[in-house]
Amino acid sequence: MSPSLADFGLRKGINEVIGITKGEWINTAPLGIIVEDDGGRKAKVRLYSNHTRKNIRNGSPLWINVIDDAVIFALASFKDLESTFFESLDPPVIKGALSWCRMETELKGSYAELELVEGKLLRKELRAVNRGFNAIIEALVHATRMISLRKYEKDKVEYYLKLAEKCGGDREKRAAKIIREILSELP
Ligand SMILES: Cc1cc2nc3c(=O)[nH]c(=O)nc-3n(C[C@H](O)[C@H](O)[C@H](O)COP(=O)(O)O)c2cc1C
Repeated sequence: MSPSLADFGLRKGINEVIGITKGEWINTAPLGIIVEDDGGRKAKVRLYSNHTRKNIRNGSPLWINVIDDAVIFALASFKDLESTFFESLDPPVIKGALSWCRMETELKGSYAELELVEGKLLRKELRAVNRGFNAIIEALVHATRMISLRKYEKDKVEYYLKLAEKCGGDREKRAAKIIREILSELP
């Protein structure tokens, strides 16, 4: 039987992952992959005007890395991960990724339609839900909107960073520090 999105951890709803495309360099960015049927192979992602969209327009597939490392989300939100962060460059797989998959892409208006071509489940790790990790994701969503859409949401970012520092483990605390440092350098 051919694999489906659920085999790689992509479930119905919006899946926060690291999206990787290739252009002049390997581009990494957190993306929300929208899945309506996780027993199937089709998904979509809304793309703002960013490097991910540009690379897809120029014909790059989208590699998805499912990963639960708050530091990777924090770094990839603001810059591209250097090659030392990868355990494989072909296919591009970030160290510690739980699964990867390669999606064929087609841009349609503000969305890219995606179809699963191949993928691999790499690790099965057991971790209880951690509010600190979820708070890092929320802080980053608001911080990246602040930057790309010039929306002023500093209070929301601060609220989620405090929550991450209270409930998170070492990686979430480190991610919060990285986010604070990057935001403090903004004009
Ligand atoms: C959890 C999370 C989910 C995101 N989802 C999307 C998304 O679905 N589409 C998008 O265009 N940007 C999304 N972003 C914002 C991009 O990751 C961010 O703007 C990034 O800097 C774009 O990088 P790039 O220019 O290298 O593509 C998301 C950010 C976070 C933190």
